Amino acid sequence: MISLRVNGKWRDVDASDDKPLLWVLREDLDITGPKFGCGVAACGACTVHIDGEAVRSCSLPVSAAEGKQIVTIEGLAAGSTLHKVQKAWIDHDVPQCGYCQAGMIMAVAALLKDKPKPTDADINDTITNICRCGTFQQVRAAIHAAANA
Ligand code: FES
Ligand code: FES
Repeated sequence: MISLRVNGKWRDVDASDDKPLLWVLREDLDITGPKFGCGVAACGACTVHIDGEAVRSCSLPVSAAEGKQIVTIEGLAAGSTLHKVQKAWIDHDVPQCGYCQAGMIMAVAALLKDKPKPTDADINDTITNICRCGTFQQVRAAIHAAANA
């Protein structure tokens, strides 16, 4: 049994130590915001926060997250108040199909925590998430809007 703290709640999971965190979230805890894209830490669709850092959960064994603070897109808002990144996403109509967007938002939220006013170079270096719909220009505009909110 593994104890995980997800979105502020302790959850016990009967899973093997090496099961990827993504699949524990989706299959064992029914938390489906984090998505499966590539499974090899390349696309970012599965991004969550662990102790405030953006982590690609498809490539992290669940045992590495034990006892840490895990936040998924479901836990990013403060109650009914959206995170400023979520608000900027809505204002800029960023999502198209939406598949990559939860991971994208989580990566951006972590970036803004570390760098409240990121440059385009910071964004290029940090937000390496892949969007097959090509929302990159809207993503960039929304990041700058959130930084200035
Ligand atoms: S599914 Fe995790 S990085 Fe692509
Ligand atoms: S919005 Fe469709 S993959 Fe990004």
